[in-house]
Amino acid sequence: MAMLEISHLSKSFGQNKVIDDLNLSISQHKIYGFIGQNGAGKTTTMKMILGLLPIDHGDIYVNGKKVVYGQNETNQYIGYLPDVPEFYGYMTPMEYLKLCGDISGMKGSDIQEKSVELLRLVGLENVNKRIHGFSRGMKQRLGIAQALLHNPELLICDEPTSALDPVGRKEILDILQSVKGKTTVLFSTHILSDVERICDEIALLHEGKIKIQGTLEEVKSLQKSNGFEIDFLRSHDADAMEKEYAGSQRLNATRLYYPSQGEEEMLKAMNMISQHHYRIQKIEMRESTLENLFMEVIGK
Ligand SMILES: Nc1ncnc2c1ncn2[C@@H]1O[C@H](COP(=O)(O)OP(=O)(O)OP(=O)(O)O)[C@@H](O)[C@H]1O
Ligand SMILES: [Mg+2]
Repeated sequence: MAMLEISHLSKSFGQNKVIDDLNLSISQHKIYGFIGQNGAGKTTTMKMILGLLPIDHGDIYVNGKKVVYGQNETNQYIGYLPDVPEFYGYMTPMEYLKLCGDISGMKGSDIQEKSVELLRLVGLENVNKRIHGFSRGMKQRLGIAQALLHNPELLICDEPTSALDPVGRKEILDILQSVKGKTTVLFSTHILSDVERICDEIALLHEGKIKIQGTLEEVKSLQKSNGFEIDFLRSHDADAMEKEYAGSQRLNATRLYYPSQGEEEMLKAMNMISQHHYRIQKIEMRESTLENLFMEVIGK
């Protein structure tokens, strides 16, 4: 059974159709990257999953139960870290988790035990200072601890790494990766390298729809060829090749790039090079990246 199943979801704000017949299915114990440009509708979708925003059309099921706007039954399965989490700055992390546990009706002894475990997980176990003195990274890590307090099946994090430096981002990604044995993780981002680092699957949201979904490998294989590059040892060989084999871009004195050409064209180029005894340093296909694919899909 899917942990999250969204079918034919639509949502407009006035005339602005933000989500347009969106379908998405997420299975258990995986990390999903939810990618989309600013304003693509990532936060809107997450809020609908949480029952915090009314749905115009379609259905959302979490752990097999239908999400109903304004009711929080399905939220027992979900831990949520909003894009800008709010804290009571005068509290210590332990006090804050105690408050969250009390609100959600957990037993005092469970709160204590779970808080110790989670603060260790997020690297805040010996931090007794008040939250107003926390860095952004520390706040995000505390936010994840809060979201995991009730052992959710599904952890939803809205851009958990966006405001962080590389060290802070790595810490968050490591934490997300460490919980995936127990929890399904859905996190939104526009930082593609984060997705490449930890996600099992990705979904790309564009113009209200999921344009691409699949494993990183599947998604990358969808991309048209990125072409190939030849680096010559002598610039006059590059000059000659440029004339001989049309369609290249000149990158510098010795380097030619043949965009969107595949392996067959590269073999042809290699034959020409050997026939003419051009001397080369290297010839290689350009690797497909998520960034290239993203640009391709959004038509940039
Ligand atoms: N409450 C609202 N009322 C009107 N329009 C809204 C509301 N919430 C979001 N929108 C609009 O819906 C669109 C999607 O916004 P959303 O915040 O879901 O995007 P996002 O993908 O989370 O973007 P970002 O990466 O900037 O966080 C935007 O055009 C936004 O202006
Ligand atoms: Mg957002």
